Amino acid sequence: MIGVLGSAGRAHARLAALGSYVPPGVLTNADLERQVDTTDEWIVSRTGIRERHIAGPDQATSDLAILAAKNILSTAGVDPNEIDVLIVPTCTPDYLFPSVSAITASAIGAHRAAAFDIQAACSGFIYGLAQAVALVESGLAQKVLVVGAEVFSRVTNPQDRGTCILFGDAAAGALIVADEDHAASSGFVGFELGADGSMGDQLLIPVGGTRHPAAAGFHPDDAYLQMNGREVFKFATRVMEDSVLRLLDRLAMTIDEVDLLIPHQANQRIIDHAIGRLGIDPARVFGNLERYGNTSAASIPLALAEARDAGVLRPGMLVMMVGFGAGLTWAACLVRYEPT
Ligand code: UT7
Repeated sequence: MIGVLGSAGRAHARLAALGSYVPPGVLTNADLERQVDTTDEWIVSRTGIRERHIAGPDQATSDLAILAAKNILSTAGVDPNEIDVLIVPTCTPDYLFPSVSAITASAIGAHRAAAFDIQAACSGFIYGLAQAVALVESGLAQKVLVVGAEVFSRVTNPQDRGTCILFGDAAAGALIVADEDHAASSGFVGFELGADGSMGDQLLIPVGGTRHPAAAGFHPDDAYLQMNGREVFKFATRVMEDSVLRLLDRLAMTIDEVDLLIPHQANQRIIDHAIGRLGIDPARVFGNLERYGNTSAASIPLALAEARDAGVLRPGMLVMMVGFGAGLTWAACLVRYEPT
């Protein structure tokens, strides 16, 4: 991409299209009952999850991202060569490098695109949107694709009942475009992003980076995701509410003005807690956790795309998204949905 700051005049970023790809393989709670010491009753009552989709043995993260990106572009009627930047939020990349975004850009024919990944775990999609909006509204880019993609099944210990029940695989995202004719207010209203690295060890994969390189040898358990579920749960219930309230407060708005809340799909008890504390009518909250589990950076755009397909997300609606994840990180975004 080549961009000149301010060249687009008063460009406004618009959420123009949504799309997703979910691999066909399904892992049910009954399957997990045969894998670890757990029950369908425990999983449903503690998490709300009944099944998750799992990538095929030949599918890496970019394979999911490619299909989701194609789905978004065909929904928008946009040629891949029009894409200026492709951002892939992911914490389960194919490799340490090259990036999933570079592999994906080549494969879909986005040959003009700059490409980079974002590592903000389950908050990554909202972090990616913030980057897309900044690129578009500065005039550096006109069309930015943000595709959250994860294959968590590859980094989850199949013998760890505290984590293997939670996660699923998927890719989903959005096309953000520059809108010259837009009214004075942007489609994107505001963001609240944060990170607290002092809690990083509560949710991590110890091996494979420069701290504990794989080449130095390792215990197999350390190549898998490790989580202190209770601590992450406490953090999540706090930041989901705080993040939304801080953003609304900054905008001098109330939760009643939000048409639809899309929370990160991690645990129904975390979502219910946020709904209660925020005082939002549950009818104005959309989720699909039951069928996909936690798909991390794909979870919010997957829910957005399904809400659109179900007729719950309609043009003109003011949508609040909020998430949290490894880092630990959190993120909220308020946007008016204005599809092409
Ligand atoms: O995107 C960010 C990703 N992370 C999260 O969202 C995780 C947030 N945390 C959670 O969702 C919850 O903490 C979990 C679902 C992971 C666990 O639920 P919990 O209600 O916090 O359970 P717990 O960890 O306090 O464990 C309670 C009991 C323990 O047994 P004891 O020590 O009381 O005898 C666990 O060993 O439940 C046991 N347990 C299970 N039992 C049956 C843990 N996992 C399972 C299981 N099946 N799958």
